[in-house]
Amino acid sequence: MDFSELSHTDAPRIDTPPPGPESQVFLEQQRATEGAAVSYPRGLPMALRRGRGATVEDVDGNIYLDFFGGAGVMNVGHANPAVLAAARAQIEDLTHTLDIPSPPRRDLVEALGAVLPAGLTRLFFGGPTGSDAVEAAMKLARHNTGRYPVVAFEGSYHGMTAGALSLCSGAPFKERFLPLLPEVHFVPYAYCYRCPFDREPATCGCACADYLEHVIDDPHSGVAHPAAVIVEAIQGEGGSIVPHPDFIPRIRQICDKYEILMIDDEIQAGFCRTGRMFACEHTGTSPDIMTMSKALGGVGFPLSGIAYREELDTWEPGAHIGTFRGNVIAYAAGAAAIGFMREHELAAHAERVGGIVLEMLSELERDSTIVGEARGAGLMLGVEFVTDKATKEPAPELARQVRSRCHQSGVLIEVGGHWFNVARFLPPLVLTEELARRGTEIFCECVREIEKER
Ligand SMILES: Cc1ncc(COP(=O)(O)O)c(C=O)c1O
Repeated sequence: MDFSELSHTDAPRIDTPPPGPESQVFLEQQRATEGAAVSYPRGLPMALRRGRGATVEDVDGNIYLDFFGGAGVMNVGHANPAVLAAARAQIEDLTHTLDIPSPPRRDLVEALGAVLPAGLTRLFFGGPTGSDAVEAAMKLARHNTGRYPVVAFEGSYHGMTAGALSLCSGAPFKERFLPLLPEVHFVPYAYCYRCPFDREPATCGCACADYLEHVIDDPHSGVAHPAAVIVEAIQGEGGSIVPHPDFIPRIRQICDKYEILMIDDEIQAGFCRTGRMFACEHTGTSPDIMTMSKALGGVGFPLSGIAYREELDTWEPGAHIGTFRGNVIAYAAGAAAIGFMREHELAAHAERVGGIVLEMLSELERDSTIVGEARGAGLMLGVEFVTDKATKEPAPELARQVRSRCHQSGVLIEVGGHWFNVARFLPPLVLTEELARRGTEIFCECVREIEKER
């Protein structure tokens, strides 16, 4: 299957410059009634009516190439027919069960059982968002170790509930919301483009992992013995950062040596996104606890969960609860989505198409004065903008301009990264090679135009 029947093959098609008149009515109504924290429509002003595969249509009839995929939710594509059929059938039968077993719940547990990293034998479905899964993972780690401190990484994003937010490195998210949970400590991620130790990847010996070990080993580092280290095997919101190849294996070794639990947050990188079912598979390691959400619910039905090692299953019944402890429609959709991913070898497709896109972006990097680095794995890609390639001064304004120009040209991307200076690509993985090339060419052209106009 080349997935072409899932998307509008003639995308993008912009008939009315966005936001068109119909979109403007929706945007005005939203501005008049919803809170000021609404964010995506500020960068991508439009109202959406329909999604098909890797394409979406706005209410004015414009068709876009969706290179953002609902922030990494729509891995199997908008309106994936197999997944929708499973969800529709489930809606007719039963839509809420707390954590009482049901056929779709069993099906998702079985589907996950076939794909989870080695050793993760237990599942827990809590509240519906990724943040809920992060909260559960932290709580389970603390419960099992009897310890409280957690080590997280610079560039991390783990969610917006108080505990998850405590683990996020981004100051803008928490500045006026302090204090959050105590005893969360941040150490550098292997963000080699901006190594805080000023080393080169080929010869650095993974200094950031050494530093993590130092922080844990030295009784006077200021960090009491942690319950857990939480890491994204490939960082998402931090700027699509693939760490140094030794980094995650070293974290695994350090966690084993000091009897600390390793939590791998796969909420964004999971479910074929990076060219493997889970990003940790690139590293040959398996965490103790893994968080999942986003693509877990198939085509956007909210669902999150954690998978963990058998020996950590020590909670009392009801120790962690919630009304939406799972979502039966999402179970049905999620099981069908995992079936689709396996049947159509979606991870291999993401790796191949992502490789083509990255090659095109790397060419852009070579020729451009404002692209500091193009990087990523599979279809989790990023382009970091700088005002000057020598000084690497971050250029968030250029990233915003590129997002806007791409939108006008029919390609949806978002920005992320430490300074919001990274254009981020998280398209539905059913993106065809042809659409991937077309969308990337448009992106590159927008970057070249903006560069010329500077
Ligand atoms: C790695 C990671 N963890 C956690 C979250 C939080 O998920 P949610 O927004 O569903 O709470 C996100 C969201 O982007 C994420 O990328």
